[in-house]
Amino acid sequence: MTAQHVVLVTAATGNVGPHAVAHLLEAGARVRALVLPDDPNAGRLPDGVEICHGDLGDPDSLDAALEGVDGVFLMWPFFSLPVDTAPAVLKKIEATARRVAFVSSVGVHIGLEPVDNNCHAYIEQLLERTTLEWTFLRTTGFHCNAMGFVQQIRTGDVVRYPYGAATRTSVHEADLAAVGAKALTSAGHAHKKYLVTGPEELSQAAQLRIIGEVTGRELSWQDIEHGAARQAMVDSGWPPSYADGALDYFATLTKEPEVGSNVVEEVTGKPARTFRSWALEHADAFR
Ligand SMILES: NC(=O)c1ccc[n+]([C@@H]2O[C@H](COP(=O)([O-])OP(=O)(O)OC[C@H]3O[C@@H](n4cnc5c(N)ncnc54)[C@H](OP(=O)(O)O)[C@@H]3O)[C@@H](O)[C@H]2O)c1
Repeated sequence: MTAQHVVLVTAATGNVGPHAVAHLLEAGARVRALVLPDDPNAGRLPDGVEICHGDLGDPDSLDAALEGVDGVFLMWPFFSLPVDTAPAVLKKIEATARRVAFVSSVGVHIGLEPVDNNCHAYIEQLLERTTLEWTFLRTTGFHCNAMGFVQQIRTGDVVRYPYGAATRTSVHEADLAAVGAKALTSAGHAHKKYLVTGPEELSQAAQLRIIGEVTGRELSWQDIEHGAARQAMVDSGWPPSYADGALDYFATLTKEPEVGSNVVEEVTGKPARTFRSWALEHADAFR
């Protein structure tokens, strides 16, 4: 009989975390969710998970959560937490765990995200310097990023957003979680840099059309100009260098579609879910 995996999931109440918890439980692991002490969303995590309070910004607060773990499903909340404590957090993880699945970005895969942007490439570099069996999940945008349209769709028929013609290969957040869960609970994924994408190329405007079809609405796209979009992103809390990176990338995707892969199916044995299937699952949110 093989020993039961004990896995800690960080950013557990975000978009990917609850799916990661569910897939790990399904794989038979004992699962801990790292949750900030006052997180109101902890109650939404699947039954069977152990809630551990801790803060990635305070490495010593992670000791109890990390005790006895052999795997970490690592996500860094870049928008709310700088990476200053990442070296100390990884040292703690290295002292106890063997495997880490790190949610990185397509930006690293295509060489667009430099290490000194203090984002995914920086943490990849830190992990490469450890003795851990890391797996990088270099993901494209999530299907659930379309939740960013909810407010406009609920109050009108026009969505104003930058680069409607940007063609992406977005991935269902649950499929990304499934790849990470496999990497942490089965052999053969050490030191792999997986490009994790959805199964199709769709422009942002085409995603909006699909949301319209599944909700019975006629929705239209209106581009916001680059400079105005940048200002709005910075005003809403995006670090300026992240906003520039995202918008410059979207601009390139109006000329050439985003890269794609078959990693979801290759690793999980199940086809990656389409954007339409995601929109059907979440149609009520847009009503
Ligand atoms: N969205 C995309 O298109 C995309 C593309 C490429 C890569 N990624 C990467 O995917 C990863 C997962 O994204 P996500 O949207 O699921 O989650 P996220 O928005 O990055 O993280 C949110 C989670 O982190 C928690 N958190 C915030 N500060 C924390 C702290 N100091 N200590 C511990 N936990 C803290 C939040 O808790 P509270 O709710 O209590 O604040 C929440 O559970 C991210 O690392 C992101 O960079 C995303």
